[in-house]
Amino acid sequence: MTKSSRADGRWVVLKFGGTSVSSRERWQTIAQVVGERIAEGLRPLVVCSAVSGVSDALERGVAESVAGDAPSTLDTLTSRHEQLAQELGLPFPGPIETELAELARLFQGAALLGEMSPRLQARVLAHGELMSTRLGAAFLNAEGVDTAWIDARECLTTVPGKDAHRAFLSATCDSDLDPDLQERLGALEAGVLLTQGFIAHTPEGETALLGRGGSDTSAAYLAAKIGAVRCEIWTDVPGLYSADPRGVPSARLLKRLDYPEAQEIATTGASVLHPRCIHPLATADIPIHIRCTPHPAMSGTVIHSQLSDSDARVKAISIKRGVMLVSMETLGMWQEVGFLARAFACFEDAGLSIDLVSTSETNVTVTLDPAANHLAPAVLDTLEDALGTMCRSQVLGPCATVSLVGRNIRRMLHELGGALGVFEEQRIHLVSQAANDLNLSFVVDADQADRLVRQLHGQLFAHSTESSLLGPTWEESFASEAGPAESPWWETRRADLLALASTESPLYVYDRASLVEAAGNLHGLANVERVFFAVKANPHPDILRCFAAQGLGFECVSPGELAHVQEVLPKLPPDRLLFTPNFAPREEYAQALAAEIPTTLDNLHPLEAWPEIFRDRPVLLRLDPGRGRGHHAHVRTAGRQSKFGIAPEQVERAAELVKAAGARVIGLHAHAGSGIRSHESWAETAAFLAGFSTSFPDLQVLDLGGGLGIPSKPGELPLDLEALDATLASVRGAHPGLSLWLEPGRYLVAQAGVLLATVTQTKTKGDVHYVGINAGMNTLLRPALYGAWHQIVNLSRLEAPLDQVAHVVGPICETGDTLGYQRRLATASEGDVLLIATVGAYGRSMSSHYNLRAPAMESFLP
Ligand code: LLP
Repeated sequence: MTKSSRADGRWVVLKFGGTSVSSRERWQTIAQVVGERIAEGLRPLVVCSAVSGVSDALERGVAESVAGDAPSTLDTLTSRHEQLAQELGLPFPGPIETELAELARLFQGAALLGEMSPRLQARVLAHGELMSTRLGAAFLNAEGVDTAWIDARECLTTVPGKDAHRAFLSATCDSDLDPDLQERLGALEAGVLLTQGFIAHTPEGETALLGRGGSDTSAAYLAAKIGAVRCEIWTDVPGLYSADPRGVPSARLLKRLDYPEAQEIATTGASVLHPRCIHPLATADIPIHIRCTPHPAMSGTVIHSQLSDSDARVKAISIKRGVMLVSMETLGMWQEVGFLARAFACFEDAGLSIDLVSTSETNVTVTLDPAANHLAPAVLDTLEDALGTMCRSQVLGPCATVSLVGRNIRRMLHELGGALGVFEEQRIHLVSQAANDLNLSFVVDADQADRLVRQLHGQLFAHSTESSLLGPTWEESFASEAGPAESPWWETRRADLLALASTESPLYVYDRASLVEAAGNLHGLANVERVFFAVKANPHPDILRCFAAQGLGFECVSPGELAHVQEVLPKLPPDRLLFTPNFAPREEYAQALAAEIPTTLDNLHPLEAWPEIFRDRPVLLRLDPGRGRGHHAHVRTAGRQSKFGIAPEQVERAAELVKAAGARVIGLHAHAGSGIRSHESWAETAAFLAGFSTSFPDLQVLDLGGGLGIPSKPGELPLDLEALDATLASVRGAHPGLSLWLEPGRYLVAQAGVLLATVTQTKTKGDVHYVGINAGMNTLLRPALYGAWHQIVNLSRLEAPLDQVAHVVGPICETGDTLGYQRRLATASEGDVLLIATVGAYGRSMSSHYNLRAPAMESFLP
């Protein structure tokens, strides 16, 4: 290619990360992308990271040689690059031999001295990028792409660092437009230039590094210096998402962001883009395109200058982990001059940079971000000692910062009310609203962060749709890659289901095999002695018979449920029943107790007002564990706001009343809520209840309630029953005389049930498509009441592509009569049968005749 046919100085910088340079397939993508840019009239400058794993291996090599061990790293590095050369069909490049020989010398030197200075460490680590780019340049040339290998150190010069660490291992460079460099690179003959990320020269010509993850920063500096038309960051994910898609598969791709928003998202946790790379590009107004090497056709995220929309909205929810919290408390700071200055000086002396700050008259709390600080225990101890001279200080952590990132957050605080409800049961250590109005951050216990993000994302994005800002969800893009998830029972029994739907619609259908499997899973919990099925979830007679045959007991909340179970299972002994009423009238307790059904009391009133009905009776006391959990505020049954349970401070009084009434407390009970998928919940409840065991001499049982959750969306993790059992084992170990009981509803029946409904009409209004079905909120209330998400498929066209996005609605006269918003379906026509999944629990049992429409009938598949 001649110079004149080339791009006339219109540069594009393309940065490829570690996984993007580690296989032949990825290098072929690089060759293809480079070709496309040339065809666009641009001249590519390609910036590469080290092959994945190599920088870590080099760091290990440094540590091993300093410790006097012969580093195994050299062999690993040689074979890693040999293997890649072979995969790329190349002879082993001579320059890599030279690099490896130099590394061997550097390691030897370190072994002799027992140390390695930051200066030499930089030289060692630079070899990762030097080697990957040697292979890459050779490959592109072999593929016919005329490529010149450039030493990045000749293009980037660092600004002098404060200390050796900053100067050599975490350096920065200036990023002003550099006509010299433009000219030098422009004069090179090759059409494509390829260079290293991460490395630069000090003004003295020594090798320096730009910090881990510094390849993005190299690309940014280079793009700014040569005035590129854009900087493309190619990585293994398609862009920035509204949450980390590994934990939240319904996270949406963010198609467009402005620099400050992207900076905020990168800084508050997403590790897609190095936060340091944004500033140089923002200053030079060069757009950043994030692209995905494994999926080059996806358009990714574009970051550019201020967007024209000034809407207030949350764009992403991110987590920063490993955050340490430092609380400083003193009465002396009130109206005192200079306290903050002196306290903050202690942080400076310890070399610590502060992230978030909150202050009151007597307390200042700050966070330390592990990405910006070296948070070794010794460093924190020094800090605490220094602070100890002026206040009472405490270091807490590690915690996690959950941030809502977006624009004009202050203007939308009122709208966040519902979403912030998820913090109701959480201890929030610190809240901070960024001065630039781009984030609202909450510091919480580390183990709560993932759950909070899932819930917040659910509340803020559940009804989001694709738009000019938001792209597809992760699961929509990659559902087929998630691997062959075990197909649900209803796929296997599709023909039976369609046959049933042709005679009766709408129709709930229950699958016996799924019920037996769920019961078997709970029987597998070695530390749970008895399982009672919460009948309210689904009282269908065949389900009760099936569970009775599996040896389960039955938890009932009303005389109606008790009578129903006894009618369906006339031979069931009373001790296979539990009666757990709440604010029920006297006669309900009197009847159940007279029938010798173990009854749970969750208030002192019955004992105070009707002590005579409890004489000689065994009872359980339901306590309030203080902290509710569950998929929605309506189903969290503990804590201040809940009507259930006896408060801990009333337990002693309850014990006296029980004694006075001549009753015996055989069990303590607590139920934190419904739809819980974190396995620790039940052991926490058990430990709470066990704390009261000494007040009750007849105590035999801790009933830990129900609430066992199931995944509702694809990609959600199921409750880890093994881990649950392991946590219960430790409670059992501490209280060997007590049996543990559970009373689950949802876990046992949810997945066994589906709702079949028939398409009545379709409609398109504005941009929205509607698919109407003959089942509405009177048949399935959960979406309207809790915003619950149930999978919906077009069972009549199970193999067809999902080519329609529609709201699935019922015939009830309320806008809330929507069973699914923006669902991807195989285009539905009148008469098609849609299947709504995971409705075996709280489906039919919560249905009604609202609008005088009969709810769906039920059918049991034996
Ligand atoms: N035990 C007690 C004392 C309960 O209050 C409940 C449910 C359970 C056990 C069974 O909880 P499960 O294992 O099913 O989560 N309608 C809501 C669920 C309400 C649950 C009420 N209490 C829903 O559709 O999500």
